[in-house]
Amino acid sequence: MTPADPVRFSENLLTDNPALYERAFPGTDNARFVADLVARFGSGPAHTLLDAGSGTGRDAARLAELGMTVRGVDISEQMVAYATTRHPGVRFDVGDLRTLDTAHPVDVLTCLGSTLLHLHDTADILTALRRFARCLRPEGLLVLEMRNGAFLLTDRGRRELLDHRALRRVDWEGVTYTSETRLTLDAPAQLLRRERRWSWPGNTEPVCQHTAWRLLFPQELRFLLSCAGFSVVALFDEPGPLTEPAWPGDGVLVERLTGDRLHVVARRERDPR
Ligand SMILES: C[S@@+](CC[C@H](N)C(=O)[O-])C[C@H]1O[C@@H](n2cnc3c(N)ncnc32)[C@H](O)[C@@H]1O
Repeated sequence: MTPADPVRFSENLLTDNPALYERAFPGTDNARFVADLVARFGSGPAHTLLDAGSGTGRDAARLAELGMTVRGVDISEQMVAYATTRHPGVRFDVGDLRTLDTAHPVDVLTCLGSTLLHLHDTADILTALRRFARCLRPEGLLVLEMRNGAFLLTDRGRRELLDHRALRRVDWEGVTYTSETRLTLDAPAQLLRRERRWSWPGNTEPVCQHTAWRLLFPQELRFLLSCAGFSVVALFDEPGPLTEPAWPGDGVLVERLTGDRLHVVARRERDPR
């Protein structure tokens, strides 16, 4: 790594370079989305929150500003180091969704930005959801935000996701990074695979990164949540922090479930299985 070439070569360029991640994906209003849903569907106090897959820490920090005691957990050491430096008032730990733990059960648990879909096996997803239930107090709220697998069942979804290469330019520390992204469907594994090639002036070999999201369908998610001891109180595609129009919209939660994002609010049952 040199000053002229500040990006680390890595399997996942963005999660290993959190400042670049924030530049590529400038803030959404996830915190406002969560706070509004908790005010609408929560029962009892909502003072403590655990953000699972907290990334750069911006949502956790914003939720802390709104008055909650927040802790963030992420599997990426680079993300946790960045979040800790940027937001010293919030605690961030390295951890995995599948082994998530907390000393005291929290009132709200969030898992946003498709983090849950980085688990590809159904058994791992169920393990993580059971962990979420263990970390929540009885009747505590779980808020999930992720890609919607059912979007790919629509003509628009197939066109937007599979039929073109997306180009993006990010200016960071005097260097312009260009990415070309291609998505493909891996039907047997129920995965949406992404290949992203990054190039920038002076770098002869593009950095190619591969990642994949599990395609979760609304009914499947409902079932997994119920197996983990949750009852779903809202499951909708619009509006959300990444939809157009974006949250808060007009307050009506649209349940067509053909949009590209899936939003879930679920309540931990008194005695989770
Ligand atoms: C797309 S980012 C979303 C970050 C943040 N929630 C947001 O919405 O901006 C996904 C995050 O999930 C983290 N992640 C992936 N797999 C994980 C796992 N098994 N346990 C905990 N975090 C994980 C990544 O390191 C990354 O920071």
